[in-house]
Amino acid sequence: MARKPFIAGNWKMNMTVESGKQLIAELKPLVKEAKCDVALCVPAILIPAMVKAAKGSKIKIGAQNVHFAERGAYTGEISAEMLKDYGVKYVIIGHSERRQYFGETDDTVNKRTLTALANGLTPIVCVGETLSEREGNQTEKVLDKQLTEGLNGVEDVTKLVIAYEPVWAIGTGKTATDEQAQETIKYIRKKLGKLFGVKNANKVKIQYGGSMNAGNCKGLMAQPDIDGGLIGGASLKTDFATIVNFDK
Ligand code: 13P
Repeated sequence: MARKPFIAGNWKMNMTVESGKQLIAELKPLVKEAKCDVALCVPAILIPAMVKAAKGSKIKIGAQNVHFAERGAYTGEISAEMLKDYGVKYVIIGHSERRQYFGETDDTVNKRTLTALANGLTPIVCVGETLSEREGNQTEKVLDKQLTEGLNGVEDVTKLVIAYEPVWAIGTGKTATDEQAQETIKYIRKKLGKLFGVKNANKVKIQYGGSMNAGNCKGLMAQPDIDGGLIGGASLKTDFATIVNFDK
């Protein structure tokens, strides 16, 4: 069966209740006919208001992180159960900004992923190399480690989504070319095949992320192994709807 495309936005630390509600109200009619799955991963404190704002539309609300413990003395953290309480379906795990600024490691990515899956959430697990790693021909080695360690112990890999986000393309306006993104995502699928079996790997949705926008989305989405996008900057405006409607 063909993989259904999945376009997700990552608002990062942007928007307020008012501006978020307004954007969702503008997006709703624009994404009505979308053939793909659509999500917006919003700051945790905005989740209740954005779930309400998106109600009755194609837009599902996701989170940007989840703690790995079920509950307990973890000041400032948010559990999978709390996210589920509000009807959250997706959660981004291991975004490069969390790896870079907040001490996220493949080990904590792994713990968060297992907890999210155990609670019925769909993790969007982020992987990707830095510019110096790409230039040093380390991309495959970096991805091998991120996938092997980050997904260790996952029983059903088809229940998660992978986002390939080359760090050098995030927020820089430098998108990977269609061929670069396809080639690397094909490699990720091959690696998933080795770890979880080819049949399962062929069912996993793999998104591209990094300066994806209304202008370059068509070319990226036309690649055979690219099943969607994880959109940062362009998800803060109605351009997001153009990406969702990439096939129109
Ligand atoms: P930009 O689309 O702003 O480059 O961000 C990509 C990203 O990090 C999505 O998670």
